[in-house]
Amino acid sequence: MKQEVLESLKNNNGDFVSGQVISEKLGVTRASIWKYINALKAEGYNIESSSRKGYRLLENADKLTQQEIEGYLTTSFIGKTISHFDTIDSTNIKAKKLAQEGANEGAIIISEEQTAGRGRLGRQWTSPKSKGIWLSIILRPNLEPMNVSNITLLGAAAVNKALSEFNIHTQIKWPNDIMLNGKKICGILTEMSCELNAINYIVMGIGINVNIQKVDFPEELLDSATSVLVETGEILDRKKLTAALLNNFESLYNQFIKYGDIQSSIKVCKENSSVLGKKIKIIDRGNVRTAKAIDIKDNGVLVVENEDGTIDEILSGEISIRGI
Ligand code: BTN
Repeated sequence: MKQEVLESLKNNNGDFVSGQVISEKLGVTRASIWKYINALKAEGYNIESSSRKGYRLLENADKLTQQEIEGYLTTSFIGKTISHFDTIDSTNIKAKKLAQEGANEGAIIISEEQTAGRGRLGRQWTSPKSKGIWLSIILRPNLEPMNVSNITLLGAAAVNKALSEFNIHTQIKWPNDIMLNGKKICGILTEMSCELNAINYIVMGIGINVNIQKVDFPEELLDSATSVLVETGEILDRKKLTAALLNNFESLYNQFIKYGDIQSSIKVCKENSSVLGKKIKIIDRGNVRTAKAIDIKDNGVLVVENEDGTIDEILSGEISIRGI
């Protein structure tokens, strides 16, 4: 019913609508309309109340709820269920719990802030309130577990394509960092539960630094991390960007899962790569070596040429182009 009250306000395009009119339209008492209005205000909707004229919505809330995003979605299953939180420890932790309890493929968990956002290799992920997109996607692909790294590349390609719809042209640092002007603006943490040769579920956690200011980053990240706002001075509409991400994700995911075509994703990763043709450091269980990144193969591996001219294929891991 709260959703219907919100719709009544939205349909009035910023003009007042009386509590009486809404209560007659929805068939509930004026007292309950007042209760729903208060609940919407508590969720962050800016609603003006006047004892004479009723209520009006001053602007749509900057919230990544299902009702705010669904109007921009063109997907058939990704994002059809969105669990939204004002605050949470980590959307990946919640997504894994929901996946274990049987959540559908395509279900999304979004939080305005994370108090224990998780990055790769046990790192923390800074997730300040309402300044980024912190979400996890539950997937149940019929794939061999060894092919899961392709899904991460697919996610990176979706982020790159979504941002380019807003004229933000990023580079992809294989396998799962998205860079803007040489600094990281997005990271992907893919986690999986599987049997020997079948995947139970995948949780893909995506964090995009959208409207974060410099002061919001911890001092030690200022050299390596950035946001769309810091780089462009522009505040982006997080709702539209979230929908663009999910729309692009579903399209690339369908191409891969339904038609076995990972090329469309790999192509984006190659064309926008920040490492191909460059000297990189490969950090492998504490050992660091230098090599040149020369290709990304169809199975998602990075091909490198070592200093002695031998060729290696790297399946996953950490690479760095800084300090070379
Ligand atoms: C990395 O680059 O280290 C990966 C960062 C992944 C961050 C996202 S934010 C949403 C989701 N929930 C988490 O706790 N982490 C991922």
